[in-house]
Formats: sequence, structure tokens, C-alpha cells
Amino acid sequence: MAKKAKKSIPQRSIQWFGRQDIYGFLYRSWVKNRGVPQDQFDGRPVIGICNTYSELVPCNSHFRTIAEHVRAGVLEAGGFPVEFPVMSLGETLLRPTAMLYRNLASMDVEESIRANPLDGVILLVGCDKTTPALLMGAASVDLPTIAVSGGPMLSGKYRGKDIGSGTNTWSMSEDLRAGRITLEDFHEAESCMHRSHGHCMTMGTASTMASMVESLGIGMPGNAAIPAVDARRNVLARMAGRRVVDMVKEKLVMSKVLTRQNFLNAIRTNAAIGGSTNAVIHLIAVARRLGVKLDLEDWDRYGRGVHTLVNLMPSGKYLMEDFYYAGGLPAVLRELGRAGKLHKDALTVNGKTIWENNRDAPCWNRNVIHAFAKPFKKNTGIAVLRGNLCPDGAIIKPSAATPKLMKHRGRAVVFRSIEEFHRRIDDPKLKIDANSVMVLQNCGPKGYPGMAEVGNMPLPPRLLKRGITDMVRISDARMSGTAYGTVVLHVAPEAAAGGTLALVREGDEIELDVAKRRLELLVDEAELARRRARWKPPAAPLDRGYWKLYHDHVVQANEGADLDFLVGKSGPFVPRDNH
Ligand code: FES
Repeated sequence: MAKKAKKSIPQRSIQWFGRQDIYGFLYRSWVKNRGVPQDQFDGRPVIGICNTYSELVPCNSHFRTIAEHVRAGVLEAGGFPVEFPVMSLGETLLRPTAMLYRNLASMDVEESIRANPLDGVILLVGCDKTTPALLMGAASVDLPTIAVSGGPMLSGKYRGKDIGSGTNTWSMSEDLRAGRITLEDFHEAESCMHRSHGHCMTMGTASTMASMVESLGIGMPGNAAIPAVDARRNVLARMAGRRVVDMVKEKLVMSKVLTRQNFLNAIRTNAAIGGSTNAVIHLIAVARRLGVKLDLEDWDRYGRGVHTLVNLMPSGKYLMEDFYYAGGLPAVLRELGRAGKLHKDALTVNGKTIWENNRDAPCWNRNVIHAFAKPFKKNTGIAVLRGNLCPDGAIIKPSAATPKLMKHRGRAVVFRSIEEFHRRIDDPKLKIDANSVMVLQNCGPKGYPGMAEVGNMPLPPRLLKRGITDMVRISDARMSGTAYGTVVLHVAPEAAAGGTLALVREGDEIELDVAKRRLELLVDEAELARRRARWKPPAAPLDRGYWKLYHDHVVQANEGADLDFLVGKSGPFVPRDNH
């Protein structure tokens, strides 16, 4: 039988359900229309299950089941579960890019939580942008909150080999373009790659963000890697449902968990898992919602000296299922703690510190999760570049780059838009060789709009056929977490905001030196000033609705690409509450 919550604890929901007047009648009576008995309004914690289930978001298509397990946990702990939908964002179908809508979804989440009689929240997150969108929105309200990830798909299996979503999509599409495989092979691989519920099973953005949830302490231990279809994923959801009820009683709100220490742990974890560059933008955005100081330099400073321990695609060869069986993120956190790279006393949602949760975590397979002393790749934190081409910063993921290209000087081949890139890249007359530096403009937060994942521009077919597999590529865009290459991303300010990137011309020399953290356009200041004087901002792609709001208010990548008026926490109180 369910435990009763103490009535003396002042909770938000009591302002709705605890009233004995006309409004109390209205609030309770309408909820009763689905068979809720009177005793559920006795002051027990009301827990929102914020669900991103959608058939348009294949990665989250099993979330009705997960929500049922959360619901069971909430009931077992004496809470009152209420599930509600929010805007869901899928990488595969949404155009022009899911990132354009991350901030919109976060507004939906924030307002849905604040406006309703909720005391605590479970966030069901999965596909890439659903995790930051829900964390950002919930952070702005700051209730007791646990994020539950939907889990990765089972490993792709193709002709006796493991294939990973995203990573092998890129490599197979390049094989197809280079004529190394047939269209029939390509179609067969499609069916073999995504064969169960769950999100991308490489260490792409979704797996990275699930790992961020766990290392931030805002998810339950084990959150990152349990496969979506493994029964233990449902157990985790159920335990989270139970736990959030206690968090309400303990008044353990999100901002008490997500301190700067927790974010620094997540930065180091990102380096240790060879995680997605997208985490940089998302974590800065979440931190800024909470008023936690976190900037690009923190990624470089705290990621330095951290090695990649996890041999997972796209940096390595294994997949999330292997990662889970090898010990999952707890085994990584243990290595980080033992190497002195973890703030051990950072609090987590289960009420214990991160070290209490992970200090005894076993590792079952050292091919998949390496020891810190024998890493998979050395010194692989995100590198933050500065220079006249990116005065407000740019990033590169060394673990996905080619070592010999990390110091490189070459002539620019410039594409002013992704459409122009697609038009020209297959042209045999394009003047490009393996030493060229590919530059893509106008794909940043404002320019695209939404900062598309197009920074890892495919190489020209004739170079691919010659066996060239990587070149230096620079843009204000993002890159899919499943992609790889010597790709400089998130150049700020972006071209469409008048950054130096907009002034690069065909044939200009560019110098990249990752060890020195430099990215320079080797054109003198006087010439750049002349070009700048002639530069005109591109027109906004759409002058109405959310697109206009986004274009007018989005901040640059180094500040998290949030909307300027959403930065900062406004709390759980409803303004103009006249009831
Ligand atoms: Fe959803 Fe990759 S498409 S996580």
C-alpha cells in the first residue's frame, strides 16, 4: 500500500489541490474525471512526467513504456504521477535542424512545469536535443528533478559486423559516393543499423548527453548506457520515480544538485568518453539558465590532461551496448576519481555524492573501457581555439581529428552556404587538394538558422578516390556527435553576425595550430578592414513567428546559443496568480 506524504510539507501542488473553495473544487474535480479518488489530494507530492514521446522522434518512440515505469515508481513512493507531453525534437526528420527548436522546446518545458501544480519532475529524454531542451526548461523553474534517458539502441549488425548509427552512415555514404559499395548494399545496411528502440548507439550526441546527465548527477547512477530495450532501463525509470518523491520532501531542487563542481565533472567526463562537441553548447546553456558560471575556457582548462578511456565510435570501434556490458559510465567515473579528475563530493539526485555512487564500480572489459593509466587516446579534451578567425572562440575535438593535421597551413576553399557547398563539391573543376582548408560560412546560430550539423563537410569524391580521408574544415556550424575529422566548429562570432569568418576569400591562407590553440586567417588587418566595410549581413531567412524570435534573440555559440531573454532562472512562482 502506498505511503502517505506528510501534510505539513508546503508544496506547490497544495496551492491547487489543498484549497477548500471554488478553485479547489475546480482543480480536483477535473482531475477526478479520469478516476482519481479523493485521497490522492492529501498533500502527497505531485510528480510531473515530462514526456517527449513522439512517433516523429524514433529515438523516443518507447517513452510511453518508460513513463509507465516512472509512474509505478512514483506511486510506490506515495506520490501522485501526472504525465504530460512537451514538444519533442528528433534529429532524423526535423528540418531545417532540430537545434533551431531546442530553445522553443525548452520554453514549452519551462512554462508547462511552472504553470501546473507540480512539486517534482521526471524528464524523459533521448534523442539529441531533447536532453538539453528539457534540462534548460526545467532548470529555469528549479523544482526537484531527475532526468531519465531512454537508452541507446542495440548494436547495429550488418553482414557479421557491428555498425554504428551515424558513424557508419557517414562512412557508408562516402563509400557509395566513391563507388565502393552498391545502392543495394546501402539499403540493406539501413535495415541492419536501427533494429531496436533507442537512440544512436555510438558515442554521438544522444549518448554523450545521457552521459552528461549521469556525470552531472542529475540522473540516476547507470543512466548513460543501459540499452533502451534492456529491462534494467525500466528498473532505472522506476527507481527514479520513487526517488523524486523523496527529493520533494528533502527540497532537493535542481540548483542544489547542479553546482559548478558538477559541470566540471561533466566536462572531464566528456573528454573521457570522447563525447560530442555538441555538449559544449548544451552544458553552457544549462549552466547559464541556473546562473552557474561556465564558459568555453572551462572546457579547455578542465578537459586538459584528461584522456579518452572509452573505445567507442566515432573515436573508436565499440558501441554503447558493449560499453554497458563493460561497466558503463560508473567505470569511467571511477577511473576519473582515482586519477584525481573528479570533484568527488559533488551531490547527485540519489542524495549521495558522485564518488559514493561510483567508487566501487567494476570494469569488465578493458578493451572497451581503458584504465586512466593506459588510456585509449591521450589528452583528448575539447580544445578551444582563439585567433583573428575566431576572437570569441572555436572548438575542435582532438580525439576525432587526424594528428598530422592538428598543425596545418593551407589555402581556403570557401563555400558561402551549405547549398553552395553541395552545388560545387562534386564538380571535378573545383580547385581543391588535400592541403586545402575547407571553409563554410553562414551556418551558425543565426545564419543557417539553428546552427546545423554540417561542419564535417564531406570531402570531394576525387580526393576520396585517391584515399584522402581527412582535411581541415572550418565553419560556424556544429558537427554530429557521430562524425569525425579535423573539423573546427562553432566559430564565434559566426559569419552571419559579422565575424571574421564572413571575410574569408578563396585562396586566403589559414593556419591551424591546435597545440597552441590558434586559428589565424593570414590576411593583414588593413585588407580585413576593407572587406569588413563592404560586408552586408545576410537577410533573415524568415521574418515571422518563432524563426524571427529566434533570429532576433539567439546568442552566439560560445554562450550556449540560447535566446538572450531565457538566460537565468526565474523560479517556480507563477506571476499574476489571482486564484
Ligand atoms: Fe536520435 Fe541519433 S537520431 S539520437
